[in-house]
Amino acid sequence: MRKDLVFATNNRHKAEEIQQLLGEGYRVLTLKDIGCDVDIPETGATFAENASLKSSYVKEHYQLDCFADDSGLEVDALGLEPGVYSARYSGTRDDRQNLELVLQRMQGEETRSARFRTVISLRMGSESYFFEGTAEGHLTEAPLGTEGFGYDPIFRPEGHERTFAQMSMEEKNRISHRAKAMAKLIAFLKEGAGIS
Ligand code: IMP
Repeated sequence: MRKDLVFATNNRHKAEEIQQLLGEGYRVLTLKDIGCDVDIPETGATFAENASLKSSYVKEHYQLDCFADDSGLEVDALGLEPGVYSARYSGTRDDRQNLELVLQRMQGEETRSARFRTVISLRMGSESYFFEGTAEGHLTEAPLGTEGFGYDPIFRPEGHERTFAQMSMEEKNRISHRAKAMAKLIAFLKEGAGIS
């Protein structure tokens, strides 16, 4: 039997991608599909807490199995900032301003190691599971490339000469933090967890 699984996102495109990868066993629903238009507060101190706040909100208010993701950039020389503040590091949701603030704070800094991290929280039945993916790399001195979003123009993944913003979506998706975390979730779900 097909099992309903909510992805706590409003991004239909993201949900369709996961649906494709999961196949027939699951029907992936978005927040909109279940009539949830609440802006679930992301007040946690970690990615895991924020992802968990979102999946738990749906589980508790709608009694539906649910997963949610939370991601961000961790810069070693900035004490792992912007971290959970990645989306509004400069006080705005403007990607360019956020990225410029990171570059400004990194001016003259030689240690430029950083990583993107994604944590997925899955609430299924009475259980709670976490899946994590990271992409290690280094920050450039200036933005390079026009693809992607967020901090992509200043992040050069380990073993590559180009930033995420200089890669096609397909290329980034082969090595990204989000893709790695999602692959773990999909492998777990495909093993039959939760399908009775
Ligand atoms: P979210 O949790 O996926 O919405 O990500 C939060 C914020 O982290 C985004 O608004 C971006 O600033 C940053 N971020 C997360 N993933 C990426 C990525 O793949 N590339 C660039 N920035 C990202």
